[in-house]
Amino acid sequence: MTFDRAIKIAPSILAADFANFGAECAAAEAQGADWIHVDVMDGHFVPNITFGPATCAAIRPHIKGVMDVHLMISPVDAYIDAFAQAGADILTAHIEAGPHIHRTLQAIRAAGCNAGVALNPGTPASAVADLMDMVDLVCVMTVNPGFGGQKFIDMTTKIKSLRSMIGDRPIHIEIDGGVDPKTAPLVVQAGADVLVAGSAVFKGGSVQNPAPYGENIRAIRAAAEGVWA
Ligand code: DX5
Ligand code: ZN
Repeated sequence: MTFDRAIKIAPSILAADFANFGAECAAAEAQGADWIHVDVMDGHFVPNITFGPATCAAIRPHIKGVMDVHLMISPVDAYIDAFAQAGADILTAHIEAGPHIHRTLQAIRAAGCNAGVALNPGTPASAVADLMDMVDLVCVMTVNPGFGGQKFIDMTTKIKSLRSMIGDRPIHIEIDGGVDPKTAPLVVQAGADVLVAGSAVFKGGSVQNPAPYGENIRAIRAAAEGVWA
């Protein structure tokens, strides 16, 4: 993965057809997605269950670009190698998932993946201050994780703090939850460059009729890039 701060739209397949992930990922990429965001939930760290490494491995051949795997699981460490072998490019673990995020991030990089750390809305930016040289991405949750389609929670102050903490380091700021053409400019203005969007990308379309995915992606990107116009 090469690093740049261009806006990246990462559709979350949590909002896709669960019986058709391969075709949904290919359709989203064909319609302009930069990354594909894959939400793994365990029913323990978050109050919902999705799928695990076997499903990630099955999805992988259908994604040409970056597979961005968001682990909403606890514990994390025992599963890192399985998700790495499933072909994840980025593995993001939550700082709240256990007492040893430092060890977890070391293990993610040792497994050959880019390492991400995610922060729940209640976790301050300062919690990751000592991790800046161990991460490739910081994911700021703008909903409490577990479900798609929730209302955006304003985290712009936290995003600005993270942006100044990151400085010149090649670290992405990813926003996850409630991103749409209205909220995207707020987070980009504050310093974000990767925008995860589930419902706002997949609404109105399907594998048989993917054009709305493209319209939705273009609308989010135009609103986000409008900040710099
Ligand atoms: C929430 C997930 C998100 C979710 C975003 O727990 O991590 O990736 O799918 O969905 P929307 O964009 O619908 O808020
Ligand atoms: Zn996510």
